[in-house]
Amino acid sequence: NRPAPDVTSAQFMADPYGAYAVLRAEFPLAWNEPTNSYLLSRFEDVERALKDPAFTNRNYEWQAEPVHGRTIIQMDGREHSTKRALVSPSFRGRELFERFLPVIERNADELMERIPAAGPFDLVDTFATRLPINVIVDILGLPQRDHDLFHGWYSAIVAFVSNLVGDPAVTAAGVRAKEELAAYLLPVVAARRESPGDDLISTLCAAEVDGVAMTDEEIKAFASLLLTAGGETTDKAITVVVRNLLDHPDQLAAVGADPSLIDRALVETLRFSPVVQMVMRQPSVDIEMTGGTVPANSTVICLLASANRDESRFERPDEFDLHRPEIDGERGFTAAASHTAFGLGRHFCVGAHLARAEVGVSVRKLLAVGSPRYAPGFTPQDTGAFVRAPSELVLELS
Ligand code: HEM
Repeated sequence: NRPAPDVTSAQFMADPYGAYAVLRAEFPLAWNEPTNSYLLSRFEDVERALKDPAFTNRNYEWQAEPVHGRTIIQMDGREHSTKRALVSPSFRGRELFERFLPVIERNADELMERIPAAGPFDLVDTFATRLPINVIVDILGLPQRDHDLFHGWYSAIVAFVSNLVGDPAVTAAGVRAKEELAAYLLPVVAARRESPGDDLISTLCAAEVDGVAMTDEEIKAFASLLLTAGGETTDKAITVVVRNLLDHPDQLAAVGADPSLIDRALVETLRFSPVVQMVMRQPSVDIEMTGGTVPANSTVICLLASANRDESRFERPDEFDLHRPEIDGERGFTAAASHTAFGLGRHFCVGAHLARAEVGVSVRKLLAVGSPRYAPGFTPQDTGAFVRAPSELVLELS
């Protein structure tokens, strides 16, 4: 009769996957006092919570709205589907490849200049944290000289979103960043309405679905959401893909010989070690689940990282294997939908293809300049409960 693992404990931080295994086996529905939430850990339960509309996204009203304003991530039902349809076409297919790939390539080339040919460097600081934000600033059509300004707002907003303990200084800095970002972006949105250009803000100004268009405030809020939804996630995905490949030299060699395997390495990385480890939901009614009832208006934490290790869903779940048959070779990246790392159902990540392109370009360029290995004496250390990755990855090239 041991107690259910606590997702805020030091033991959990050190080994979340051990805790997830105990939760799946013994506590499919666990009450977690410190977060005032129920925990779901099995694949079938997490999948249901993500797909069943009775599990609403109202939790984002306190998780994200104070720093971003109202965005699609906190909407439900018809409001969500309409507003999502206004933004999602910009992140798919031809649009993505024609407009975004050259931007990703250029920014990655610029940042690769910061990587020394000899001696140690931290991939996180020199490259991974910078690329996604630089790319977002560029696709919004904002000046490159403002990259650093955006990095400042990004850091404050990311700290706010991860501030589980409610540190007032972090809260104040997050809200200040929101105000500064609004003061910067709202005049830009107004100017793009007057004279549109070939950039994402202009596209969003013109977007219309069923007679509904986006207000200036909604465009500003969505641009702000991109900093966290598309910044921190992709930043950490680049880091974790490289870490997983370095930890599996045979798979690193396979990717080096055939760069088309990078997509598989990303899909498997996000299954094995998803950067977004958990998302929340708020049921609108009482819901019967394996292990008990989740009451209406409670907070439910869906443990995406646990679902991805569910032994009833994946063979050898604790092994990193980019060749695993669950990743369909033909469907390749689309098979990301077979696990939960980009979410599932109606809130499935809008930027999955952009993330794929950014990670693909980054890993390909890194492997092209040399063979990365850990710097002598360095061992990567994962940190974070909600969003998890090594905080530094000190490498050298040979
Ligand atoms: C939604 C993960 C990259 C934009 C989501 C969700 C997850 C996720 C788990 C679902 C959240 C939920 O259901 O509560 C990731 C990961 C990424 C990544 C792991 C990188 C590897 C990006 C990028 C963008 C982006 C590059 C930029 C466009 C969004 C947006 C949503 C979202 C706008 C909200 C969709 C909605 O509510 O309908 N992402 N994401 N993401 N993501 Fe991503």
